[in-house]
Amino acid sequence: MATVLHLSMECYPAAKAGGMGDVVGALPKYLNRIGWDAAVLIPKHRTHWLDTHPTQVVWSGKVRLHERYYAYCIEYVENDPTAFPLFVAHIPGLFDRSSIYLDDTGRGWSDEVVRHLVFQQAALQWVQGMAYKPQLLHCHDHHTGLIPFMVKHCPEYRNLADIRTVFTIHNGAYHGAFSWDLIHLLPWFDAEARELLDWNHAINPLAAAIKCCWAFTTVSPGYLEELREHSNGLEWLIRHEWPKAHGILNGIDTEVWNPRTDRHIFYNLKGHAIQKYKDENKLALAQRFRFEPQLPVVTYIGRLAREKGADLLPDLIGRTLGSGFPLSWLILGSGDAAIEQALRQIMHHFKGRFDAALEYNEALAHQLYAGSDLLIMPSRVEPCGLNQMYAARYGTVPIVRAVGGLRDTVVDYADTRPLPGARGIQFTHFDLTDATAAVWRALQLYQDQKRFRKTRNYDMKVDFSWERSARTYAQLYDSLIH
Ligand code: GLC
Repeated sequence: MATVLHLSMECYPAAKAGGMGDVVGALPKYLNRIGWDAAVLIPKHRTHWLDTHPTQVVWSGKVRLHERYYAYCIEYVENDPTAFPLFVAHIPGLFDRSSIYLDDTGRGWSDEVVRHLVFQQAALQWVQGMAYKPQLLHCHDHHTGLIPFMVKHCPEYRNLADIRTVFTIHNGAYHGAFSWDLIHLLPWFDAEARELLDWNHAINPLAAAIKCCWAFTTVSPGYLEELREHSNGLEWLIRHEWPKAHGILNGIDTEVWNPRTDRHIFYNLKGHAIQKYKDENKLALAQRFRFEPQLPVVTYIGRLAREKGADLLPDLIGRTLGSGFPLSWLILGSGDAAIEQALRQIMHHFKGRFDAALEYNEALAHQLYAGSDLLIMPSRVEPCGLNQMYAARYGTVPIVRAVGGLRDTVVDYADTRPLPGARGIQFTHFDLTDATAAVWRALQLYQDQKRFRKTRNYDMKVDFSWERSARTYAQLYDSLIH
């Protein structure tokens, strides 16, 4: 059986901050179903899930960074309900913290470089100690981006050089770059390999991964095309390494995201009673949030970040409600303090028509997908986006900016071409005028109830499952191994 080990910062349900956690929590499960042997290693973060699941130590060691040693152990998580072996690297002092990425002031942990270097080397030492080594290491985002370099160019890990490496870019905006002044923290490497680490006079783990891996993937074909044109200075590199590039659309875990069985939602879908399922969930939402359930409700779920276009929301809500659009707004998410503040301010202004929960809340997210009519994603960039797929499956029609994976998965309802994807509303420019027009078009669609229900019912049947994507990954792995 062919074996692959995924290395990542997140894996649902053990530790998740965003979509990458969902992907790493689902892809291995679906790979295993088609004959692969996939496992996952993440750091042992301090999360409720990890606190309440017993583990068993399978390996321990020490990583040296310059003059300091970091003791760690690799633990197998017992009673793991996910369908793949999950391992966590327990590195005291480095990952047992209040949040996966951010300190209490909302900034990235200041010792990020050390954290990533220790995690990556703990992973490699463990693999070195395995009797049966994986054939492939699949690294996710820049946090694990130095692994393809290390296995090829660090004498310490050279006995792993035959292991294929695949690197997935979930978010190309973050490179994890750091100054050459920190070079002493890296394990010893071949002098001639130095330039593989460099991009714009800094050590750049994202760039190093793209250069050194056997193949790299982006989480949608559309995003790969975009990275070639705009990727914070990496355009040239992406073009140069183009033969190694693959755009593979993410799937969603249709077992976790199933309106018929979802235990987070108030009322499950039964038979063909879609309207009843939507109505009941919307009414239940009205217990939690202040809004008018007889009006269509537009929802935003996710990080309140510029990248996601969340800074447009306060103005968009103000403009649409201020102009008397007959709708309500709901928001679930946390993030940028200025955006949160702006939302709080208009919440007072539009009481009863706009409400928000400024937090990360997985159960509430499920309830919002089930109870909303429309979901908006005004992203500036969107490598794939999973929320539009969750929304479609739960019968909430997506309004998206035509960018990256959103463009690949949502077709405008007025577009009559037989394209794959859900039907929704697309808009092109990242500005208030275009976004307002999109919301207006969504309302028009809603008012034509027959057409709206047809769109919604169609969306619920679109196949966004992982089976298809897992097969594409498996083909890629096969082509590298054989
Ligand atoms: C990142 C991207 C998002 C993608 C997810 C999973 O969070 O921003 O677009 O869906 O990773 O790959």
